[in-house]
Amino acid sequence: MNNSFGQILRITIFGASHAESVGVILEGVPQGITLTPDIFTEDMERRRPQLTGETSRLEEDIPTIEGLDDEHRTTGESIKITIANNNRRSKDYSHLKRHPRPSHADLVQMRKYGEEYDIAGGGIASGRMTAPLVAAGVVAKEILKQAHFATHIIAIGGCTDSNKFNDIIAKAAREGDSVGGIIECRVTGVTPLLGEPFFDSAESIIAHLLFSIPGVKGVEFGDGFAGTAKRGSERNDIIVDASGTTLSNNEGGINGGITNGNDIVVRVAIKPTPSITKQQQSYNFEEGAITPLTIGGRHDACIARRAAVVVEAMVAIALADLSLRA
Ligand SMILES: Cc1cc2nc3c(=O)[nH]c(=O)nc-3n(C[C@H](O)[C@H](O)[C@H](O)COP(=O)(O)O)c2cc1C
Repeated sequence: MNNSFGQILRITIFGASHAESVGVILEGVPQGITLTPDIFTEDMERRRPQLTGETSRLEEDIPTIEGLDDEHRTTGESIKITIANNNRRSKDYSHLKRHPRPSHADLVQMRKYGEEYDIAGGGIASGRMTAPLVAAGVVAKEILKQAHFATHIIAIGGCTDSNKFNDIIAKAAREGDSVGGIIECRVTGVTPLLGEPFFDSAESIIAHLLFSIPGVKGVEFGDGFAGTAKRGSERNDIIVDASGTTLSNNEGGINGGITNGNDIVVRVAIKPTPSITKQQQSYNFEEGAITPLTIGGRHDACIARRAAVVVEAMVAIALADLSLRA
C-alpha cells in the first residue's frame, strides 16, 4: 500500500481510524521554519465536528510534533506529527465485513487486503486520516508564507444558499440520511511558474492529492465543466499585463500545467456520506443474498463542512512541493 506522496516535500501517513493514533511524517521541510503548537489550533478546529448532523466522535486532535529544535524550529530533518485516537469504538464495525456498506470501502478493502484487514472506522480509508493531513497542511502553508488561502462551501445537497446549509444537514441527519457538497478553494499570491507541462502539471499534482481525500468524487479548476458550454471567444482569459494578469480567471490560475500568477481556483465535489442510519439493502455474505443493513457507528450527515480545511491542506501541500521543486 502506498501511503506517501510528494517529490521534495514528501508526506507519509500512518495509523488508522481505530488504531492508537493517526499521523504523518514530513520529509523535505526546509530548515528554520517555526512550528509552535498554537499555529495548528485553528485548522484542527475547523475539521472537528461541531454541528448537528456531524459525528459524535469527538477527539481532542492536538498534534504532537517531533523533530524540531528547542525553539520549535525545523532542522531540515523529518518531522513526525502524531494525533491520538482516544475515542474508539471498533466493535461497531465488525459485522460490515460480512455485510458491506454500499458506497463505502468495506468490500473492496476486504477483497484486496484480506479478512484480517482492520476496517474499523474505515481503516486507513477513513475521514480520520485527514486529521494529520490538516496538520501537514499547516506546515505547507508556513512554507508558502506569501500565499493566502480562502476556502468555503459553495453548495450543500444541491443548494447554493449558505443560510440554508445547516438546516439541510440537520434535516438529512434527522431522517437518518446524508447530503453531499461542493467546496471551493482559492489561493492568492501563488508564485508563478510552478508545475510542468505534462505529468507533473500543477493541476495533476493538486488533483492527485484532492482525489486522495475519502469521499471526493470530482475536481475542477476555474470554470471546469461549466466552461464547456461557452465559446472560446467569451471564455478566453484576456491577458492585460506583462506579468500575465488576466481579466477573467476561467483557467483557475494554471495554463499548460504551469501556474500563471492569477488565483488558483479549484472546486471539489464531496459525495453524500455513505454511512447512513436509514435502513439500506446490501449483499450479505453469510446469507448469500441481499438483506437489509442497518449501520451503527458515529457518522457525519455531511462530510463537506469538515472536509473544507482538508481540501485547503491538500492544495497547500501540493503547492509547497511544487514550490520547493522550482
Ligand atoms: C472529514 C471526513 C469525514 C468523513 N466521515 C465519514 C463518516 O462519518 N462516515 C462515512 O461513512 N464516511 C465518512 N467519510 C467518507 C469515507 O471515508 C469515504 O466515503 C469512504 O472511505 C469511501 O471512499 P470514497 O468515497 O472515496 O470512494 C468522511 C470523509 C472525510 C474527508
